[in-house]
Amino acid sequence: MDAQHTILALETSCDETAAAVYKTSIGLLAHVFFSQTALHKKYGGVVPEIASRSHIEKIRSVVDEALQKSGCSLSDITAIAVTNRPGLPGSLLTGVCFGKALAYSMNIPIIGIDHLEGHAFSSFIEHTPPFPHICLTASGGHTSLYRVDGYGQWTTLGTTQDDAAGEAFDKTSKLLDMPYPGGPILEKLAESVGFEDFYSYPRTKHLSYDFSFSGLKTAILYDLIERGGYDTATKRCTLADDSPIRARIASSLHRAVADIFTQRIEKALKEYPDITAVTFVGGVACNQYLKNRLRQSVEKRGRLFFSPSPLYCTDNAAMIAFVGHYKAQQQQFDDYTLDIGRPS
Ligand code: KG4
Ligand code: ZN
Repeated sequence: MDAQHTILALETSCDETAAAVYKTSIGLLAHVFFSQTALHKKYGGVVPEIASRSHIEKIRSVVDEALQKSGCSLSDITAIAVTNRPGLPGSLLTGVCFGKALAYSMNIPIIGIDHLEGHAFSSFIEHTPPFPHICLTASGGHTSLYRVDGYGQWTTLGTTQDDAAGEAFDKTSKLLDMPYPGGPILEKLAESVGFEDFYSYPRTKHLSYDFSFSGLKTAILYDLIERGGYDTATKRCTLADDSPIRARIASSLHRAVADIFTQRIEKALKEYPDITAVTFVGGVACNQYLKNRLRQSVEKRGRLFFSPSPLYCTDNAAMIAFVGHYKAQQQQFDDYTLDIGRPS
């Protein structure tokens, strides 16, 4: 029988302060987060110093709330899982120091979790994708394609060489003088014009599984200049708020990103015939249009498709708790010298 564990998980790698509780044989009991989006909005991106200060202010109350919602007390917790890589150093340190202090004071193990492993297994919070499968992780900081052969067994097939897919949305939003994060706003705009491919932006093709999104952002900038919608002297968008060009750009961006994603996945499905499923995770997987395009392409090829609810696509501690739980089952504990580090 599996060892019984009740895991308290902490996630503070970027701009969400999150905690979750996961128990063997029941699963996720509670997860809570405080989003810093409002604090960073006016700066057009995450400001590291503001992020770490906010984590320090919020972590205690977020952990208390997660415990309360789970119906557990601190003494029920058998191990603490904490994101310790990759991420903003000051933000990571808050979670790691808090987690280590708590684990040490309770004399229970600590487990350092790779944030990307968390995203890669986030589909498992609600579903049970079969192995082996392909996982596409697309967020504001990362875009990677993995082959996943089991719990904790994942191989990187390709990754972005420059910007992440989420950055293509965030930077396009910034170009159009619209707020951060760009993804949800641009999705709404594109929906209003039916996700048509008005401007046909370039689809970067790689012989490998790698991605590149910085060219897409540059193509959009040049296109905007050509359409008279950008003042290069002041570096500001000059389009009227209700200009139809905004929605057409958003729509064409969606079409390009969807084509780039499906091209990589179709290639992987051809090369690895043993693959039974595809998962699509990370903040960009909140996008319903992209999700539908990938689902259609994957199911057409006779494979299963899984993607978490939006709540588990963006940064959250539930995914860290899930990975922490299988690592506890595998006896993969760290000691109290755990530090922030680079991805494995
Ligand atoms: O996973 P996440 O919360 O944080 C990182 O680990 O980066 O992802 C945030 C990213 C942002 O770039 C945001 O614009 C993007 O996810 N995003 C979306 C949508 N919702 C969030 N991108 C496209 N469409 C969306 N609906
Ligand atoms: Zn993330």
